[in-house]
Amino acid sequence: MNKHTQWVVTVFFLTVISAFASTDLEADRKAIDQAHGTTEAIRSHFKKSLQKAFKEKGAVGALGECKIQAPQMGVQTGTWEVGRTSHKLRNPSNQPRAWLKPLLEEYQKTPVSQHQKQRLVILGPQHYGYVEPIYVEAVCLNCHGAQISSEVQKELKGLYPQDQATGFKLGDFRGLIWLESRSP
Ligand code: HEC
Repeated sequence: MNKHTQWVVTVFFLTVISAFASTDLEADRKAIDQAHGTTEAIRSHFKKSLQKAFKEKGAVGALGECKIQAPQMGVQTGTWEVGRTSHKLRNPSNQPRAWLKPLLEEYQKTPVSQHQKQRLVILGPQHYGYVEPIYVEAVCLNCHGAQISSEVQKELKGLYPQDQATGFKLGDFRGLIWLESRSP
């Protein structure tokens, strides 16, 4: 399946699910589009800024780049709160909210090849949650892999004494990007 077909199939699938959960299909579809657009903006920012910082400043210098910094990312978050969470956290303030816990567990238990690439959750009338999975790429291994340089290890220990986010392999499920719509 190419990317476009995958997207169409996913939207169709989500639409079917939404039909049972809500009567306002148009609003659900709009929410998915908006949430996906925001997620894409975050992903593209990460890709660029992390790799750039890594090249220019090395792994230790790039440590501060693995954060969601919505305003700097040019991401429109007016109607959405955004964040990341994981089953293995580095920063304890990235704990999953209650609605994210079962989703996180489900993604963790399911083989990566069978992961749903997007999920919309109806949290209330016009109140949405949305997630997309994050996977480990080559650049991530420098700070989340099994073999991390001693300088990075030292920094991480100082900054995140409870760090659990190491030992990942290429392609592993790393966590979720989540969005929650703000109350209208
Ligand atoms: C230069 C080091 C570095 C690299 C490279 C890096 N990260 Fe991180 N990552 C961190 C740090 C530091 C944090 C904690 C950020 C914070 O305080 O919120 C973090 C946090 C995260 C979190 C939030 C959940 C948590 O554990 O607190 C996710 C998800 C994540 N990284 C995924 C990735 C992915 C995917 C890649 C590769 C595309 C990547 N990281 C590359 C250093 C890095």
